[in-house]
Amino acid sequence: MSAHANTGGAGEPLLRVDDLAVHFETDEGVVKAVDGVSFEVQRGEVLGIVGESGSGKSVANQAIVGLVPRPPGFYPRGRIHFDGQQVLGLSERKLRDIRGNRIAMIFQDPMTSLNPYLKVERQLTELLERHRNLDRRKARTGAIDMLVQVGMPEAERRVDAYPHELSGGMRQRVMIAMALLCEPELLIADEPTTALDVTIQAQVLDLIRDLQARLGTSVILITHDLGVVAGMAHRVAVMYAGRIVEQADTDTLFAAPRHPYTGGLLRSVPRIDSEPGRAIEAIKGLPPNPAALPAGCFFSPRCGRASERCGQVYPDRDGDAGHYVHCHHPLSEGEP
Ligand SMILES: Nc1ncnc2c1ncn2[C@@H]1O[C@H](COP(=O)(O)OP(=O)(O)O)[C@@H](O)[C@H]1O
Ligand SMILES: [Mg+2]
Repeated sequence: MSAHANTGGAGEPLLRVDDLAVHFETDEGVVKAVDGVSFEVQRGEVLGIVGESGSGKSVANQAIVGLVPRPPGFYPRGRIHFDGQQVLGLSERKLRDIRGNRIAMIFQDPMTSLNPYLKVERQLTELLERHRNLDRRKARTGAIDMLVQVGMPEAERRVDAYPHELSGGMRQRVMIAMALLCEPELLIADEPTTALDVTIQAQVLDLIRDLQARLGTSVILITHDLGVVAGMAHRVAVMYAGRIVEQADTDTLFAAPRHPYTGGLLRSVPRIDSEPGRAIEAIKGLPPNPAALPAGCFFSPRCGRASERCGQVYPDRDGDAGHYVHCHHPLSEGEP
């Protein structure tokens, strides 16, 4: 084996995304959905990616597994290394070896991972036969067991259905079951609980946590819900309008956020200890149109701290890999 075999050495992250840009050619012009995003995921680490809808969370992660539709999408810049191998722009055939095998995904749209021509049973047992070396009968039992765990009603019957015979919520559960059964090295969970009711949400997060603890799986957990990252993620990247505006370990981000946007997100999380009836403080205004981004800091039109400079110059990165922010007037510790 050469020194460059595809198992990374100590300290080599499982995933490294470098200056990634994903743009879309549209009638309105070029949409800069992701524009210069860099992050790493270590082995066994859970990285949370948070931000309002439209901030580029899904597109950035679709790029990792080659699911950005091209056209209209294209990659003006960037590199993505998975286990030392450059994967951005890899052929569909090579990507298929990685996707659903070494990298599993739970996406908002379950149909991207389900095969419409195979019964639920076969989609699940195929993985069990491959990864757990089970015979067909035991695999069927295992499939039903996993369906029960992800809250599939009447699992013993539903295992014989085709995807189109199931409701959206049920398909979501099949997809989650598949992602967990393939025991991936990296699990990308994109709003994994959004379509589910609260009880099932908690069960699904427990299943992900269990997989992560049992197998040391790396996880990218994408959510607009900071409550979800608080209990799961080691580190959090905050995205706004296609860029990461702050990154820190989870405790630091919650205790001492530096970006006013992060502060706003934190204030909009309902807290168990808040007075009943107290309104959740949402961030005023809307994220910018990514085909017409404002000058300077993209958050400045919505920011109470913005100065003239904020409307002119995009702020450089301040801080180190442990905790950094892009802001001309960051919050200091203890500020609300
Ligand atoms: N196929 C596409 N064509 C054009 N624009 C797209 C396409 N997919 C995503 N976008 C745009 O990219 C931006 C980021 O989207 P997305 O990554 O889905 O946001 P998030 O997951 O953070 O809610 C949005 O403005 C969205 O409209
Ligand atoms: Mg999304």
